[in-house]
Amino acid sequence: MLRSSVSTHQKYGSLGLLVLQTTTLVLTMRYSRTQQAEGPRYLASSAVVCTELLKIAACTLLIFRDNSKSLVHAMNQTLWDEIVSKPLETLKLTIPSGIYTLQNNLLYVALSHLDAATYQVTYQLKILTTALFSVSLLGKRLGNYQWLSLLILMTGVVLVQWPSDLTLVPELENLSAGTQFMGLLAVLVACFSSGFAGVYFEKILKESKQCVWIRNIQLGLFGLAFGLTGVFAYDGDRVLTGGFLQGYNSITWIVVLLQALGGLVIAAVIKYADNILKGFATSISIILSSLISYFWLEDFDPTRPSSGSCRNC
Ligand code: C5P
Repeated sequence: MLRSSVSTHQKYGSLGLLVLQTTTLVLTMRYSRTQQAEGPRYLASSAVVCTELLKIAACTLLIFRDNSKSLVHAMNQTLWDEIVSKPLETLKLTIPSGIYTLQNNLLYVALSHLDAATYQVTYQLKILTTALFSVSLLGKRLGNYQWLSLLILMTGVVLVQWPSDLTLVPELENLSAGTQFMGLLAVLVACFSSGFAGVYFEKILKESKQCVWIRNIQLGLFGLAFGLTGVFAYDGDRVLTGGFLQGYNSITWIVVLLQALGGLVIAAVIKYADNILKGFATSISIILSSLISYFWLEDFDPTRPSSGSCRNC
């Protein structure tokens, strides 16, 4: 009885935290990519690496806290036994990790080209891809109402992207169409990667007994390796001339912190609830971020398409 009420608390607590984290992240990330700051803009690829480092550090601390003896030696032993001594278990995480790294980079591209609310609504297509992967990979069964809600979601996404009076302003037409197309493409690829990686991670988590924080460290270690490869392949020249942390300011660090927090919360949600519930929880943040964009950021008018904005991207 007590155990089930604890897990209900964890389930809804983690879902609520996810709503808050998603809403603040998308607004801060959008602001960080479009604000007119002095000097070069920060490199999204380096932010992805910093996030992975932070997640690994946070998960290590959580394992330290959970360790009954709370000794550094005991924690090191746990990490050694669970990560180094089980190479096959660790290697399973290369797939979701590689996909998440690509996705984490794509989301910066998307938010450089689309306004926060359009991005949020379009990215909800990931609920559909998640449902399809949950049915095919995990053998989940969805009821008629669940399929109906997915259909309504798809209709909403199509309506958001439906062309409106933009063509009446010819000089905006080319700029916005190209800009929006890049953003949309990035979001659509991210929807597939999110659905697949999330369900794959859930499968690994629920089919083995390893602790969720150990799984997250394994995920983060590969994410770090993939992320560093991305930095040097994509932004190598810029890092050599301007440094790894060029363009960082306090907002950038808030984005990195929120991203890292998101990784931890998502892992908890996948453990205590599931990926489909996670998708619907993030949908609630659409309403929140739309309202905030509309009233405080003047970044979104629900009756007009986004003009898109992009600096050096
Ligand atoms: O949009 P979506 O829900 O797919 O985003 C998942 C995010 O959470 C990614 O940034 C991924 O790197 C992160 N994540 C994590 N640890 C997990 C699962 C996801 O850090 N166990």
